[in-house]
Amino acid sequence: MGGLEINHKKGNNFGWFFGGKHYDLFATMLGFGRTYYEQVAAALPLQKGMSVLDLGCGTESVGLAVSRRLENDVSIHGLDLSSTQLGYAFSKGARADISLNLYKGTMDMLPFADSSFDLVVTSVAFCETTSDVRKGAIREVSRILKDDSYFAIVDCAKPILGLDTVMMLPFFMFKETPESWNNHYPDICRESDLVLENEEYIKSYVKCQLFRKAD
Ligand SMILES: C[S@@+](CC[C@H](N)C(=O)[O-])C[C@H]1O[C@@H](n2cnc3c(N)ncnc32)[C@H](O)[C@@H]1O
Repeated sequence: MGGLEINHKKGNNFGWFFGGKHYDLFATMLGFGRTYYEQVAAALPLQKGMSVLDLGCGTESVGLAVSRRLENDVSIHGLDLSSTQLGYAFSKGARADISLNLYKGTMDMLPFADSSFDLVVTSVAFCETTSDVRKGAIREVSRILKDDSYFAIVDCAKPILGLDTVMMLPFFMFKETPESWNNHYPDICRESDLVLENEEYIKSYVKCQLFRKAD
């Protein structure tokens, strides 16, 4: 039985000890509580009736925040490597009376048809994968997004000055990837017809970049 089991091919699988209820507890202690997920939802281009996919969804706090914001008039899909995370996401959805469509898998091999989603989001999950997986995921997102729809990458980024930058330095320095630190996602995404439209900091070291799929 593992804790944070490292699947060297695909990323960090938040298993038994680091997954589910414990994940939510640790995340809240690190400043990723309800307010953070509401800020993520507020940064997304949401519309009632849309179909949303959350990559590396964990316990699906992003999907639940999106659903609350759209008064449950949305179809939420979440994909993650970890059964522990998905199991707890399912129970959170049931408690909130929000129906979630959850899939076990890796974000660089998506089990969805071309042009099937209105919005794809990923929150602090790219930093848990390998560079190859991140690049594969971006190609897959472009394939499954409808034209003119959006992909939001929310991830650790080069920090701006802020109190939480100082307090959380050891945490986010460990989570930085070359792509996010050097702001490479706009170039990588453009190769898959995903064009940067907006970016904003959600925390002083977490940035949301919004890409539109060009038709
Ligand atoms: C730090 S958690 C973030 C969870 C959630 N998005 C959030 O904002 O709370 C990272 C998640 O990514 C998942 N993960 C890591 N590599 C993955 C991959 N290749 N495909 C899908 N999920 C992956 C882990 O199992 C974990 O649940």
